[in-house]
Amino acid sequence: MAKHKPQPTLPGVTDRRIAALLTLLAENATIVVSGARIAREIGVSRSTVWRWVTRLRELGVRVKGEQHTGYFLEKVPDILTPDMLRQRLKGSLFGKRVHHFFKVDSTNRVALELGHAGEPEGAVVLAEEQTAGRGRAGHAWHSERATGIYATLLLRPHLAPVQAPLLTMMAGLSAHAAIRAQTGLHLDLKWPNDLMFRGKKIGGILTEMHAEPAQIRFVIVGIGLNVNQEKFPPELSGIASSLRVESGKPQSRLELLVRLLREFETDYNRFLAEGGASVISRFCGLSSYAQGLRVCVTNGKDSFTGVTTGLSPEGSLLVQRDGGPIVTVIAGDVTEDRSAIVVDSRSMNRTKDTMKSREEPV
Ligand code: BTN
Repeated sequence: MAKHKPQPTLPGVTDRRIAALLTLLAENATIVVSGARIAREIGVSRSTVWRWVTRLRELGVRVKGEQHTGYFLEKVPDILTPDMLRQRLKGSLFGKRVHHFFKVDSTNRVALELGHAGEPEGAVVLAEEQTAGRGRAGHAWHSERATGIYATLLLRPHLAPVQAPLLTMMAGLSAHAAIRAQTGLHLDLKWPNDLMFRGKKIGGILTEMHAEPAQIRFVIVGIGLNVNQEKFPPELSGIASSLRVESGKPQSRLELLVRLLREFETDYNRFLAEGGASVISRFCGLSSYAQGLRVCVTNGKDSFTGVTTGLSPEGSLLVQRDGGPIVTVIAGDVTEDRSAIVVDSRSMNRTKDTMKSREEPV
């Protein structure tokens, strides 16, 4: 039998015995399980069981009962414990090494450390809550407890660094398919990494890599999805939404994550086998941003307006600059340019030379 690298002990990672406590309660849902039995089966004292039950309640898990009577789950919780995920992902690249945190600063930060420490491909870092979730361009990612999916995948592909952006776009396609299958919602893909619905952000992807000039050493793909949030802080409420709000009902995060990881594995294997052409064509087919949209592109202090004309084979956005050449946009903030269209007397589109208000990435 192949020997697996032992899972590292990470500071703050969920104690496997808490996950075992949850699994035991979930397997006996609605039946009272005595504190003594739980303590015996998971190998801790009854007072530790009590402490952990209190912790789970703080996380919104509906555990009823008392130390002297025993405990039962009123409802099977939607917590992304490694046990539950592993059961659902048997044989998958992503079911083997799952590092779960109830609370962590950033799953990307942990995954980067794991990558440097030699953690194998396929490791998944999950959190119920992030205190310093990272977004693109130095933005924070709002990561409310137990409502969203905050996941980072570690990959070690034999690819050149120039191909890494395609992995971000591929992850967007995988998330798009998983969300469609679970909720029926057809999201828009905003180049390069946003999942949008009716102009509001539902999810985003932050890929970071460690590479040599010609070869990626490892890539981490961080995926944040707004699943069951009912409201957002005032600064985000106009620009962010969740699947719960848009579909009108709560969604199982566990189901969605399982679908997402399965889709991702299929897309990843195809990408490695066939290259990125299908990522580009699928992205163009699903994104209203890729072709024919008036946009404003901002990169640092520079900004310009134009119309998108497609994607390059490396996944850069091609924009026909107003009064200028086609520009290859590798990075930057691209937003729809609604304010600049003026229809003149011959029904021709002209542009006004004004700066418009831009939505900030969430
Ligand atoms: C974006 O700005 O659109 C990218 C957001 C990426 C957020 C996810 S949540 C899981 C992972 N951990 C992080 O700190 N960030 C990514």
